[in-house]
Amino acid sequence: MIVEGLLTSTSAAGQINVAPMGPTVHGDFESLLLRPFRGSTTYSNLIETKAAVFHVVDRVDVIARAAISRLDELPDTVVATVVSGVVLADCCRWFEVEITDIDTSNERSEMQAQVVHTGQRRPFYGLNRARHAVVEAAILATRVHLLSRAEIEAALRFLAPAVAKTGGPEETDAFAILQQHIERHYVGETSA
Ligand SMILES: Cc1cc2nc3c(=O)[nH]c(=O)nc-3n(C[C@H](O)[C@H](O)[C@H](O)COP(=O)(O)O)c2cc1C
Repeated sequence: MIVEGLLTSTSAAGQINVAPMGPTVHGDFESLLLRPFRGSTTYSNLIETKAAVFHVVDRVDVIARAAISRLDELPDTVVATVVSGVVLADCCRWFEVEITDIDTSNERSEMQAQVVHTGQRRPFYGLNRARHAVVEAAILATRVHLLSRAEIEAALRFLAPAVAKTGGPEETDAFAILQQHIERHYVGETSA
């Protein structure tokens, strides 16, 4: 199963990056298959340092902002226990991983990651449709170059009621910044 979450990775020079990532999870989080696009910061960092920390989260504002590079500042972090890296201070569970195998033959690379340490910071808040809708919208925002404008706008129209009906201010704001980001991509074009 693919679990959407946040991945922290670090460059050889020590620069921290936070990116939404959806690895395939094997077993009960014994190992992960990460598939970072070549050219992304996550990809370069994993090639350089072969370590990362994957986080199961329930808040979606960081996912939304990180997806469109609008993290004004890095979220608070603490030093990881086993790998050279950082753990997000606000997460439910975290998984420190070491990259054991890398296949870069496709645009979307494949990196096998062995979980070497795990921990929990707080319980998962609960399922919420608005939060899931924001995750979907964040994925759309990162795929404006791959999907048609009509597809993206139809998907946003489908997702918007769940945000309006079941979300709080955090989900409303996150959905709005993703919509703005997508609209800005199409400035100058007429609607499909
Ligand atoms: C929920 C979610 C899951 C994502 N999963 C992946 C993934 O598995 N691989 C990938 O390359 N990008 C994925 N993305 C897109 C990246 O997060 C996005 O392209 C990001 O800008 C790349 O970040 P980086 O350059 O900071 O590494 C995902 C985005 C979202 C919102």
